[in-house]
Amino acid sequence: MFGKRSGSDNQATVTAPRPAAPAAAQPLAVHEAPPTAPASDAPVETGRTPFPSAGLGAPLVSAPSPTRAPASVQMVPNATDSRRSEAYYETKSTIFGALIEAIDLSQLARLDADSAREEIRDIVNEIIAIKNIVMSISEQEELLDDICNDVLGFGPLEPLLSRDDIADIMVNGPTRCYIEVAGKIQLTNVRFRDAAQLMNICQRIVGQIGRRVDESSPICDARLMDGSRVNVIAPPLAIDGAALTIRKFKKDKLTLDQLVRYGSITPEGAEILKVIGRVRCNVLISGGTGSGKTTLLNCMTNYIEHDERVITCEDAAELQLQQPHVVRLETRPPNLEGVGMITMRDLVKNCLRMRPERIIVGEVRGPEAFDLLQAMNTGHDGSMGTLHANSPREALSRLESMITMGGYSLPSRTIREMIVSSVDVIVQAARLRDGSRRITHVTEVLGMEGDVIITQDLFVYEILGEDAQGKLRGRHRSTGVGKPRFWDRARYFGEEQRLAAALDAAEAREDA
Ligand SMILES: Nc1ncnc2c1ncn2[C@@H]1O[C@H](COP(=O)(O)OP(=O)(O)OP(=O)(O)O)[C@@H](O)[C@H]1O
Ligand SMILES: [Mg+2]
Repeated sequence: MFGKRSGSDNQATVTAPRPAAPAAAQPLAVHEAPPTAPASDAPVETGRTPFPSAGLGAPLVSAPSPTRAPASVQMVPNATDSRRSEAYYETKSTIFGALIEAIDLSQLARLDADSAREEIRDIVNEIIAIKNIVMSISEQEELLDDICNDVLGFGPLEPLLSRDDIADIMVNGPTRCYIEVAGKIQLTNVRFRDAAQLMNICQRIVGQIGRRVDESSPICDARLMDGSRVNVIAPPLAIDGAALTIRKFKKDKLTLDQLVRYGSITPEGAEILKVIGRVRCNVLISGGTGSGKTTLLNCMTNYIEHDERVITCEDAAELQLQQPHVVRLETRPPNLEGVGMITMRDLVKNCLRMRPERIIVGEVRGPEAFDLLQAMNTGHDGSMGTLHANSPREALSRLESMITMGGYSLPSRTIREMIVSSVDVIVQAARLRDGSRRITHVTEVLGMEGDVIITQDLFVYEILGEDAQGKLRGRHRSTGVGKPRFWDRARYFGEEQRLAAALDAAEAREDA
């Protein structure tokens, strides 16, 4: 079996979406929520107008009687106006109040989302008719969406969740919500009615996967149904109200070719990464938070052969491997009694008993580093993982400290030797200050000189300056290495020509 160890030396300004919450900022409070309200935050609009003319007291989803006298005609302001007026929220509040009285929320909760939406639609239409509220079809649709979001979904977050261009949603308490679009963080005008509504929505999110977040267990990781990664930290730990962070799941994951189009890497660099993925180099992807590590890891897994058995270990499953023979594992936090936790280390150790050919670790952040290196070193060539570090050298020292902190009392030279004999390539990702994401290093781990690990860059990204719009100018530079250390490995897998061509092309680009 060939193995490294077997002797080869050689995104524009975005207008924030509808401010759904301010409705509550000016509540027309009259009634408390009906006793039938479920524990969720369905009656988010507690401040609602009574609706005597409709008198919707029927228990289940009984629509108001059409024979009742219509109320005086109301004009509703344009619901599509992004600055929605107070009158819009008043109308919404009125309709919401009537709706809550007309439906049995606990029954509604038993319906699937589409049927529930249909029920709400029917009742809202009837309320509008009875109240003689004048609105266009599109205004009515928007209002309906807004109301459905509050009753069924994640309230003010819904419009953000439905947008594909957002990478992250960051809610800092009820009044501040930021998003990241095209690499830039921007403030939105999304507001929650109050801290309680925000907590209710957090609870609803984590409740979907059977977790709880409250004062006694104020930290919680979860995943939305669409795969988005969620973290909630609640008061009293979060001082100004619950902080909710969502890494939006991208259905259409980026590919290496797209990264080339975005200028994150050159075509030759991408070609070399494809070879590295294919020829079973052990790879660490290093980068800061949100720099694109997971994206890059996902890209590189595309070049794994379809007949290889791959096992992935993640804290929140984000990877989307296309191969048929993949086992996906996920860690588990402790339950409310503080037991039952399954750590990344448990998963990686267990992996080794599952006859993996490659092990992919979503994020290496603790003692599992030791087990991953051992796996890399014992026949699981082509294993990969990401870790938080700002340069390839820092990645190496992080790895070393993770092992030391894991309680292994190994001399540091031994740990370094282990790293050298396990890791082939470090790929560094970075989010630059203009919001662009670049692959800044493709670096090989060569060996040891004395006590020091020797590395060799194949590609580096150099920043040359800044243009008038504040965009950074830079270029990927090939360092001119003619024969990387994984050359023999490439030859073994029949990728020698491809590697040579990519290296030559990179060289030619330098000369041009
Ligand atoms: N090269 C790129 N160009 C443009 N967008 C990118 C690029 N790489 C990643 N992204 C986007 O950036 C966001 C963050 O990417 P990703 O989840 O891969 O980062 P990460 O480094 O794994 O973050 P974390 O540290 O939070 O785990 C995603 O929305 C992703 O689609
Ligand atoms: Mg990640």
